[in-house]
Amino acid sequence: MEITVVTGAPEKQKTGVLAIGAFADGTLTPAGQAIDAAAQGKVSAALRRGDLDPAAGSTLLLHEPGGVAAERVLVVSLGKRESFGDRPFRDAVAGMAKAFANGKASDAVLPMTLAVPGRSPGWCAETAARILADGGYRFDYPRQQKDESKKGVQKIVVVTAGTADPEITAGIRRGLAVAEGMALTKDLGNLGGNVCNPAYMAETARALGKEFGFEVEVLERGDMEKLGMGSALSVGRASLSPCKFIVMKYSKGGPAKPIVLVGKGMTFDTGGVSLKPSANLDEMKYDMCGGGTVIGVFKTVARLGLPINLIGLVMAVENMPGGNASRPGDVVRSMSGQTIEILNTDAEGRLVLCDALTYAERFSPDCVVDIATLTGACVIALGAHASGLMTNDDALAAELLTSGAETGDRAWQLPLWDDYWPQLRSNFADMSNLGGPAAGSITGALFLSKYTKAYRWAHIDIAGTSSVSGPDKGATGRPVPLVSAFLFGRAGVRAS
Ligand code: BES
Ligand code: MN
Ligand code: ZN
Repeated sequence: MEITVVTGAPEKQKTGVLAIGAFADGTLTPAGQAIDAAAQGKVSAALRRGDLDPAAGSTLLLHEPGGVAAERVLVVSLGKRESFGDRPFRDAVAGMAKAFANGKASDAVLPMTLAVPGRSPGWCAETAARILADGGYRFDYPRQQKDESKKGVQKIVVVTAGTADPEITAGIRRGLAVAEGMALTKDLGNLGGNVCNPAYMAETARALGKEFGFEVEVLERGDMEKLGMGSALSVGRASLSPCKFIVMKYSKGGPAKPIVLVGKGMTFDTGGVSLKPSANLDEMKYDMCGGGTVIGVFKTVARLGLPINLIGLVMAVENMPGGNASRPGDVVRSMSGQTIEILNTDAEGRLVLCDALTYAERFSPDCVVDIATLTGACVIALGAHASGLMTNDDALAAELLTSGAETGDRAWQLPLWDDYWPQLRSNFADMSNLGGPAAGSITGALFLSKYTKAYRWAHIDIAGTSSVSGPDKGATGRPVPLVSAFLFGRAGVRAS
């Protein structure tokens, strides 16, 4: 997706499709009014007839309305004027993005005359660019015949009145970079586990490092053995695809302490000997989305050249049953020295993350954020709308929650009280990896907290948010927007 900014009159722009906004009461944005006037009231007449559903994000396509240079005018519903804000704005842009992606026009014009209450032009530009570019995402799956006619809008010209605002250009650039990171995260998620295995994730990270000039190191099984990562290694034992511990280092922040992102990269989670039921098991290819998010965020950050120091640690592993697999009852020693009784081989995310979190200590981090499809319980608690957030530092929580609210890629905090600790008690090791059915997301995070005492840390459980089931099955690219916004804040370039 290419988005450029020009100044001028929207009705004079030659384009395949020109988009304008309409409120539920039938009133139009300033650009919409100009276009309606040029088209002799054709837009307002259609609205009076009730041709546009008033729910934010609904769209109505008018063909060759006359009086304007555009071939088509797309009217997008903004919902009720009184309740216009972040959410209807995002819904409207998403509706527009859908119409752009599925329509016949290859270029579009988007006047920017609409203000979102309480939001800066930079925020509006970033949000719109991200949603528009993300809406054009297509997973290029292997098929016999590619349908080239269904390409949709590839180029968007944003038209502003008056002088060009550098904040808008910068916002668009950030939004496009976030969408680019999301696309990489989605691609990694959507690929089957036969293709996107640990080696593929490592190669993807390596290629990215080469493209953008940051350092990537891949630790192999032997390296992990030397480090004493007995817990992480126990998970990948029965897979024929050897585990890879991917270390990415982006250093443009001078002497500042680095932020460390840790991702669960379970390229397929069968559950191991504690085998999962087979219904929807294909969706366990998405169990690497935490690691995919870390790699995607690196693309965003590197594309923008953010002035920060960032370390990415992705534990890429496949959880398989087999003759060499871990069994329930096995006790393993983590890199931290703490021992773990594996009571369920399907609670494997914490087993790989704990060693990555211990490894993170060597960077003397400013803070560590891990991202993982850790628990089904998080899907029960928060559904697909919010990621779970658990942390040992409330200031860090506030930063991440704000980043979620500002992007709509929201998180919700759950407690990390030690009251839950007895649920992880073991008769045979320092802790077990299974907390029982109650508060499963919290006990998963509490397990991790025993490995994160040396630094400020937050855990984001994305089991419910990183992919969707059903007819639109696919990776969502979340929480790339949340994590990117957090880093924009740290880099001092965030627009609110
Ligand atoms: N990868 C799963 C969690 C998951 C479930 C992600 C559903 C996305 C959708 C994780 O490894 C897992 O299996 N967790 C177990 C933990 C339990 C055994 C303590 C779970 O949630 O059932
Ligand atoms: Mn599992
Ligand atoms: Zn898993």
